[in-house]
Amino acid sequence: MDAVTFVEQLGAANQDILDRLAPAETLVAESGGDLRLENLLKIALKNELEATELAARWLISTDDVDIKLALARQAGDEAKHYRLIDEHLRELGVDLRGFDPLVQGYGPLFNYLDTLTDPAERIAAGQFTREAIAVVKNQQFIEWCEANGHQATADLYRHTIQPDEAYHHRLGRDILLRLATTPEAQERASQAATRTLELAEELQHLALTKMGVHHAPGC
Ligand SMILES: [Fe+2]
Ligand SMILES: [Fe+2]
Repeated sequence: MDAVTFVEQLGAANQDILDRLAPAETLVAESGGDLRLENLLKIALKNELEATELAARWLISTDDVDIKLALARQAGDEAKHYRLIDEHLRELGVDLRGFDPLVQGYGPLFNYLDTLTDPAERIAAGQFTREAIAVVKNQQFIEWCEANGHQATADLYRHTIQPDEAYHHRLGRDILLRLATTPEAQERASQAATRTLELAEELQHLALTKMGVHHAPGC
């Protein structure tokens, strides 16, 4: 199929799975976990740092100028998000001295994405799909913040971070339209997107059952 049809279908298939990432409201009460804003924002710091580093690693391991520039833009944005969230936590009175977001190492999604070498796979997984996941998770997080009186945090996400993540997804879409022109490239892109969504689902389930955490923002 042509690239436009493929990217449309991939987006629709992703959306079906993303709808499942929306947690049932009842689970909030049942989880009994630690949903404190501070912990959710510390998870966000790790996500932003991983997104920064992945974009930077891929930037230097591609020869395609458009892809380099898209990844450079993304790396800068994700680093900016890290700083903004860090400053916001300090304004909330959280002491971040000695805090290392990578103290437990990189997460399974980062480790999977880091294995990808093919441009169509990388862009389908890392930008087109991961950033779509971020948009869904951030929207849930914004709603959770607003329902729990964390308006300044909701504003930071709604007005600054969320528009950037949506832009990263669109960057991925534009590049994928150029890359996903053969059945082979489309197959690789589909499989990488599917694996990314599976990992996101597994991670969300794991966070909920092991730590009682959900509504954690994406990146
Ligand atoms: Fe992003
Ligand atoms: Fe981000």
